[in-house]
Amino acid sequence: MTATVGERNLILLGAPGAGKGTQAQKLAVRFGIPQISTGDMLRAARREGTPLGKKAEEYMNKGQLVPDEVVIGLVEERLQLPDAKPGFILDGFPRTIPQAQALDGVLQKLGRAKLKVVDVQVPEATLVERLGGRLSCPKDGASYHVKFTPPKSDNLCDSCGTALITRADDKPEAITQRLREYHDKTAPLAGYYQTSGVLRAVDGVGELEVVLDRLVRALGEQ
Ligand code: AP5
Ligand code: MG
Repeated sequence: MTATVGERNLILLGAPGAGKGTQAQKLAVRFGIPQISTGDMLRAARREGTPLGKKAEEYMNKGQLVPDEVVIGLVEERLQLPDAKPGFILDGFPRTIPQAQALDGVLQKLGRAKLKVVDVQVPEATLVERLGGRLSCPKDGASYHVKFTPPKSDNLCDSCGTALITRADDKPEAITQRLREYHDKTAPLAGYYQTSGVLRAVDGVGELEVVLDRLVRALGEQ
């Protein structure tokens, strides 16, 4: 298989609360490619009560990473669906070096174009504030914030009207654990992608549209 012309294979790296999901949704619309969020996929499996969802739940509620083999299998299948042929935006994957290595292997096997990776950088105090006030749509995964980015009508998703919820892992103990997991296991990915020359860093603090413009520019430069 060969790469599709103009294919955009993008990764948003960044800590919990960096705005990966928020911006991935916007980039998906802008570029006409799917957002692939392993967090959203795992939450859907948990809601459906599948064996995978039940296994993932124990880890997710505590703010721990789900075992690599579980998420790698999910992503490998998802990347082969027809809508991902012109490209994709991965949000929340890879999260560990073994996941990044597995992704490289899958893309090579599928004959896909080179990755472009952006690291969305946000100071820790801002991350904690964002996660502590987040409201999430259980249906389409959209994120809002009680103070920074509130929904247009009280507690309802702007795009699908579903009642918004607070995620089980947005409790203070789980937030602390997620940030710890990020520093231990995910932050090293910046070095991994820097070595292959595909990484750009972007400041994730600012108005949503301002951050979006920075991301589009950073992705265009690569
Ligand atoms: P996942 O769903 O990926 O969660 P996360 O990494 O903890 O990231 P978040 O979704 O919390 O943050 P985000 O960067 O998407 O921020 P958002 O846009 O919502 O993973 C959840 C769990 O699933 C993991 O803990 C793990 O257990 C498991 N899992 C998932 N993937 C895995 C993998 N690959 N391997 C192993 N386990 C995996 O924004 C946050 C808030 O900030 C919102 O309120 C938003 O409105 C607000 N906001 C966003 N941008 C701005 C801005 N510019 N200004 C002001 N506020 C903003
Ligand atoms: Mg997210």
